[in-house]
Amino acid sequence: MEEKLSALYAAERARLHAAAARGRTGEYEAPVFGEGPLHPRLMLLGEAPGAEETRLGRPFVGKAGKNLNMLLALAGITRTCVYVTNAVKFRPTNVKARSISNRPPSPAELAEGLPTLKDELRLVNPSVVATLGNTPLKALCLLGGREPLPIGSVHGRMLKFMIDGMPLCVFPLYHPASVIYNRSLLPLLEEDVTCLGSILNEIKEA
Ligand code: URA
Repeated sequence: MEEKLSALYAAERARLHAAAARGRTGEYEAPVFGEGPLHPRLMLLGEAPGAEETRLGRPFVGKAGKNLNMLLALAGITRTCVYVTNAVKFRPTNVKARSISNRPPSPAELAEGLPTLKDELRLVNPSVVATLGNTPLKALCLLGGREPLPIGSVHGRMLKFMIDGMPLCVFPLYHPASVIYNRSLLPLLEEDVTCLGSILNEIKEA
């Protein structure tokens, strides 16, 4: 399985290099892939890597990653037991004369990464996928052939998806970076992650 995952990531790297050659803006040539154990109880699915993730080649190691680590600790979830990845594997950027900033992936960029995401889900085979923010939830809705779900009404509860015959338990969470801009989301996020921790404990005991 690990070889299959490495082959999947190598093919995605080649696809992104080809897209870079077509003049896309973004760090297409430095993708960041998932890391963690296969068949975990939990997969965390973010939006796309940022600057620090791209520099270090690992998901969620910047500011959002620090918030994520604190939330996981709160819920008694050990990060090394979790598979961490992103819906889009490269950092989408806006490039101005003197600055480079993050931007959300475009609908086309998200759609183009979906086949890789589907294979990644199949190979990693987690018991639960927790989506972080709107973009990864939208990606799973697209893969499952469902209308997009608004995170404000579905966060903190378990949803059942079916993706190409593959059943998937999906637990939507707000993005850990959202609390940097909106402190009022922090208690909600903490409550949701604590609930996720309890669900994962039940899976362990079953
Ligand atoms: N935000 C994400 O969605 N993913 C990362 O890897 C880092 C920040």
